[in-house]
Amino acid sequence: MIDYAGLKALHAGCAAVSIAGFVARYLLMLADSPMLRARAVRVLPHVVDTVLLASALALVWQLSVNPLREAWLATKIVALLGYIVLGAIALRHGRGKVARAAAGIAAITVFAFIASVARSKSAYGFLGLLGA
Ligand code: HEM
Repeated sequence: MIDYAGLKALHAGCAAVSIAGFVARYLLMLADSPMLRARAVRVLPHVVDTVLLASALALVWQLSVNPLREAWLATKIVALLGYIVLGAIALRHGRGKVARAAAGIAAITVFAFIASVARSKSAYGFLGLLGA
């Protein structure tokens, strides 16, 4: 069986692959590349994100915590929803290049925020740098 440290490494690894894949698709979108519709480019992100979420659930299970009662975990869940919505606007639903480009930047920023919340175990993440 995979231990807690292994699960955490898997989770953090999937997070890295997820954002790398998002940035790659974002660049393809900006370049109007038909590769954006290639089968692998459409399917692989779902595989990676499913493992990312499954490992998150397994970590929470092993910690025996209610993620909605831990502020930093609840923040991660809400911010993850924001990342998903902004990502969908950037790559699919946004009307016009400017809206898609802006949504993509916002999605990448929200992702960085989630990673900073994970590292700091604080619901403020990098926003905590702004003040007391
Ligand atoms: C895009 C979404 C996510 C990203 C980018 C992300 C990123 C990370 C990273 C980088 C770590 C390692 C932190 C460290 O090195 O100490 C981590 C740990 C962890 N994440 Fe996530 N995560 C995401 C979603 C979630 C969700 C939805 C949950 C569950 C509510 C979750 C629960 C955890 C837990 C329990 C740990 C282990 C904390 C520890 O023992 O140090 N993550 N996450």
